[in-house]
Amino acid sequence: MTDLSTTFAGLRLKNPFIVSSSGLTDTAVKCRQLEDAGAGAVVLKSIFEEQIMQEHDHWYDPSNAEGSDYLSTYLRAHSLGQHIGLIREAKRVCTIPVIASINCSTHSEWTEYAGFVEDAGADALELNIMEVQTAMDYEYGTYEQRHIEVLQRVRKFVHLPIIMKLGMNLTNPVALANQLCANGAAGVVMFNRPYRPDINIDTGNFHAGELWTRLSDICESLRWVGICSARIPHMDYAVSGGVHDGWAATKALLAGSSAVEVCTTLYWNGPQRLRAMAEQLAQWMEERGYESIGQFKGRMNMDAAGGHRFYERTQFMKYFSGYVKN
Ligand SMILES: Cc1cc2nc3c(=O)[nH]c(=O)nc-3n(C[C@H](O)[C@H](O)[C@H](O)COP(=O)(O)O)c2cc1C
Repeated sequence: MTDLSTTFAGLRLKNPFIVSSSGLTDTAVKCRQLEDAGAGAVVLKSIFEEQIMQEHDHWYDPSNAEGSDYLSTYLRAHSLGQHIGLIREAKRVCTIPVIASINCSTHSEWTEYAGFVEDAGADALELNIMEVQTAMDYEYGTYEQRHIEVLQRVRKFVHLPIIMKLGMNLTNPVALANQLCANGAAGVVMFNRPYRPDINIDTGNFHAGELWTRLSDICESLRWVGICSARIPHMDYAVSGGVHDGWAATKALLAGSSAVEVCTTLYWNGPQRLRAMAEQLAQWMEERGYESIGQFKGRMNMDAAGGHRFYERTQFMKYFSGYVKN
């Protein structure tokens, strides 16, 4: 009997397929349908720091002893309250882990909100800090440092596992994962997908670039999970980006991830895709005599034979030129 169970960020999952934060997970009913279709866990649609701060600034008065009461009353009645309601309702109808998600870029007062997330019963909190850095006077390293400061501050308010969902615009994800581990992160997701701008040359307008990923987008996540899982083995990783089938998930596990986050393929193929993905993974395991994920997880990380030659390579040298026909 093939056992697909895994542990990610301290959460026991029946299988490694986590549904990513997106419109797929913005109601409790959808979350339950995803569970019925075979999801191992769900990450709820993110709430954004700006949403929290607008409401927080408007209502919070630290000199008022009853400020917190006002805040919580207001939260219940408005958008933040709806988010808390989503967590509560998803927890009520689902038996799989429910992970809340906050899209944030500062370590300011909003971080207290994490306490409400914990009180609402979320099993973990995913923080999504991805942002494009464009300031002319930007000091190198401050973006990465902000990840650490947000984590440190949120950890003051909650005990639940904190998962850091990283963007790809980092100089050295290994150093950051190491710092996040040292500061108590329970898991790292590699990588989030940014909104991408495009230009329509007929109308002269901007429009949103391709929203969806491709199967080949998994390669950068494989690189960094493959390196990080060898360098910082006591951290849990999940691959996000391009996991469209069970074989892509198999690659992610071989590189050293404990789970995968899945989005595009579920928009395209519906929740039933989850069962097919689990079957593909199970079939691959059965054919090789693996009974559990632990038997092959990380087998192809950086330390595996020849791993560094593939994960650390960036340049196409003459050696590769035969691939391109002139
Ligand atoms: C329509 C849509 C909405 C998304 N919303 C969020 C979000 O609210 N928070 C977040 O962290 N990621 C969000 N994402 C990113 C996904 O969670 C995921 O990381 C990304 O799509 C890459 O995974 P995939 O290749 O399986 O699509 C969204 C993606 C899509 C396509």
